[in-house]
Amino acid sequence: MVKDRQILLCVSGGIAAYKACALTSKLVQAGANVRVAMTKSAEQFVGQATFQALSRNPVYTDVFEEHDPTKIAHIDVVDSSDLIVVAPATANIIAKLANGIADDFITTSILAAKCPVIVSPAMNVNMLEHPATQRNIETLKSYGYQLIEPGVGNLACGWIGGGRLPEPEDLVRIIESQFMPKLYLGKRVLITAGPTVERIDPVRYLSNDSSGKMGVALAEVARDMGANVTLVHGPLQVSVPDGVNAVPVMSSEEMFEQVLAHFPEQDLVIKSAAVADYRPKSVYAEKHKKIHGQLTIELEETTDILKALGEKKTHQVLVGFAAETERLEEHAVAKLKRKNVDFLVANDVSNSEIGFRSNDNEVTLFRANGSSVEFPKQTKKQLAFELLTYFKEEIR
Ligand code: PMT
Repeated sequence: MVKDRQILLCVSGGIAAYKACALTSKLVQAGANVRVAMTKSAEQFVGQATFQALSRNPVYTDVFEEHDPTKIAHIDVVDSSDLIVVAPATANIIAKLANGIADDFITTSILAAKCPVIVSPAMNVNMLEHPATQRNIETLKSYGYQLIEPGVGNLACGWIGGGRLPEPEDLVRIIESQFMPKLYLGKRVLITAGPTVERIDPVRYLSNDSSGKMGVALAEVARDMGANVTLVHGPLQVSVPDGVNAVPVMSSEEMFEQVLAHFPEQDLVIKSAAVADYRPKSVYAEKHKKIHGQLTIELEETTDILKALGEKKTHQVLVGFAAETERLEEHAVAKLKRKNVDFLVANDVSNSEIGFRSNDNEVTLFRANGSSVEFPKQTKKQLAFELLTYFKEEIR
C-alpha cells in the first residue's frame, strides 16, 4: 500500500531521531521511495550517511545546497511527494511550522507543500504539555495536518509521561492507512480470527494452530478502508489492532453467541477463525488425574456458526474460509454450497509457508455463481486488501 509511493521523511533534532532510521528502512522494504530531510540538530543524533544508505537517496539538509541547477530542491521534493511525515517532530519544528517560519530545508519545503502532512511529536512531557506546544499542535491540526498521539512511558530525559515517538511499525501502519482507498466508509464489517479453545478440564483443552494473523490483517485493512470493524477473536498470537471493536472469546459456543448478536447490523461477515468442529461432551470440573492405560474423551459436534449465518443472512455478504490439506477445490465448493455463503476463500494449510501462523497466504476464492479467482502468494495484509477490494463489489 506504500509501494511506489513518494514519501518525504523530515527528521528533526530529538533523541527519537534514531527511530526514524528503522522507519526509513521499513518503508523502503515495503516498496516506498523515501527521501529524507534533516535539520542541523537532527544531524547531532544521526548522521546523513545512515539515512542515505537506508533510503538509497541523497539526504536534504541545506536549502541552498542545490545539486541540480534545473530544479529548486525544496520545491521539487514536495511537488513530487505523495506524503510528508515529520518524525520525530520537536517542539521547535512544531512551533516553526505552526507560525509559518521557513528558515531551513524542512520548514521551507513544508510551507510549499500541497500533499498531506503527518506530524509525530516527540519530546519531554513538560515541553509537550506546555500551552505553547499544545496551541501550536492545535494550529497544525487546523491546517489539516494529521497529528500522531505521542506514546506514554519512560522518556530519554528521565521523566515518565507522554512524549515518546511511536514504534516504527506503528508509524508504518499509520502511513499505510493514508494510502488506503476508503471503500468501506459507513459500512459494518464483522471478522472472526484465531482459534477456539474447547476445555477438557481446568488445565487442558483442544485447539488448533491458528495465530489469528489472517483475521487480524483483514480487520486492520477493513478499518483502514473506513469500515466500522467488529473482531470476534479467540486467543491471538498477534496484537489486537487499535480502532476495532474487539470481542475476545474462548470456545466455539462463545464465538457463536457473539457473532450471532452482532450479525444483524453487518454489511460483510468474514469467518477466518479456525473454529473447532468438536468439543468434549463433558468438561471435568477438576484437573483430571492420570490413570493407567487408555483414556477416552467423548466429543460432540459444535454449532457450525457459518452454516447458521448462511441460513439467517438477508442483506449481509457472507464469506467463509476453508482450511484444506487435500482436494482443495472439491472440499471448498462443497462447503460453499452446504453453508450458503457468497464467497469461500480456500487455503492449503499443509504448506507451512502459507495458511496457519505464516505471514503469507495463497488462496483460491470460490464464488456462489461457480466462478473462482486465484490470489498468488503474498503477505496476509496485501491479500486482505485484495480480498476486501473484491468483496466490496457485492456490498449494496
Ligand atoms: O490464523 P492464521 O495463523 O493466520 O491462519 C489462517 C487460517 C489458516 C486459520 C485461515 O486462513 C483459515 O483457513 N481459516 C478457516 C479455518 C477453518 O476453520 O476452516 P474449516 O474448513 O474447518 O471451516 C470452514 C468455515 O466454517 C470457516 O469459515 C470456519 O470459520 C467456519 N466454521 C467451522 C466450524 C464451525 N463450528 N463453525 C464455523 O463457523
